[in-house]
Amino acid sequence: MAFLTLQGISKRYGDFTAIEQLDLSVERGELLSLLGPSGCGKTTTLQMVAGFVTPTTGRILLDGRDITHERPEKRGIGVVFQSYALFPHMTVAGNVGFGLEMRKVKRKEREARVAEALALVRLNGLGHRYPKELSGGQRQRVAIARAIAMEPELLLLDEPMSNLDAKLREEMHIELRGIQKRLGITTILVTHDQVEAMTMSDRIAVMHRGTIAQLSTPYDAYERPATPFASTFLGRTNAFAGEVLRRNPRCAEVSVAGATLHVPHEGRHVDGAVNVYIRPEKLHLANGDARVRGRIATRVFVGNQWLLEVETHLGKLRVAQPNHGAPPPEEGDEVGLDWTDDDLRVLTQDTAGGAHGHA
Ligand SMILES: Nc1ncnc2c1ncn2[C@@H]1O[C@H](COP(=O)(O)OP(=O)(O)O)[C@@H](O)[C@H]1O
Ligand SMILES: [Mg+2]
Repeated sequence: MAFLTLQGISKRYGDFTAIEQLDLSVERGELLSLLGPSGCGKTTTLQMVAGFVTPTTGRILLDGRDITHERPEKRGIGVVFQSYALFPHMTVAGNVGFGLEMRKVKRKEREARVAEALALVRLNGLGHRYPKELSGGQRQRVAIARAIAMEPELLLLDEPMSNLDAKLREEMHIELRGIQKRLGITTILVTHDQVEAMTMSDRIAVMHRGTIAQLSTPYDAYERPATPFASTFLGRTNAFAGEVLRRNPRCAEVSVAGATLHVPHEGRHVDGAVNVYIRPEKLHLANGDARVRGRIATRVFVGNQWLLEVETHLGKLRVAQPNHGAPPPEEGDEVGLDWTDDDLRVLTQDTAGGAHGHA
């Protein structure tokens, strides 16, 4: 049985539905991300698990126990909120050790756990400082250390690295994931940052308007998006509108701008108006024979790769080419583009809107 289960959870504010019939299970030791754009209901979901927001319908089970109406402090859950608050009159060490002190953990053990937690977030040696003597990113790390020091059974993190600069954030993703795995802390991470979700998660729940659009491993979320929303929210993609001509056992024949593409449907029901997708890194410049020809409209160098926009009769296509030596042709040049049919994806065009709106 899953460690945490949300069953038929809805949250309404007046006639606005923030969360609609959400079902979710988190396994023991797992790190699951709620990923989605601002306003999709990530924080609301987390707050219901933490106990600060009461669901309108549904129940929440933690380790088999119904906690739907249990007081937050009874749940044994560690929380790092989006707007984390440190005690300004307490040192960093005091802040991190506060919960342990409340729990009457002996001083020696407390000091050891505080030091360990501070080392994990790379703040060793700063235990004597006060919050106002820290940068925003350092304060955010104190909040993370404070939660980790408690070694909670379930850890909830709401955009915990939003104040860190890009490089530190990248390092923290890997470190925090390492800590989480080592301590085996079941964790729900809320983020709108897809790289954060991809790097840290066992599974990602892509949220859209109060519902889960897709729940899968990071690899499947990227490679096999289940909805048009998921395919455009996670990473970049090229989309072409098309019409299904025929559905064969393995692939669908789709008419796109006068050409027929053979697209693997992966067992999905696809019919009528569809979108065909291909990721920029799956398109490559072709010498000689090419599927489409076009003209390079923009060419940008970003270090590890070149990003091109190519005007074609299918529309403007984004192409990502790894930087392996010679630069690609220049802006204004004619190029051919090629791909492998297996890299195409097809989804029925979006009709469902999600939960958000008036009931
Ligand atoms: N207390 C509240 N009263 C009314 N609407 C709210 C309240 N809290 C959140 N909402 C609305 O619910 C939706 C989801 O909010 P939230 O969970 O904070 O989104 P996210 O964390 O994904 O950005 C938003 O449209 C937000 O305005
Ligand atoms: Mg939020």
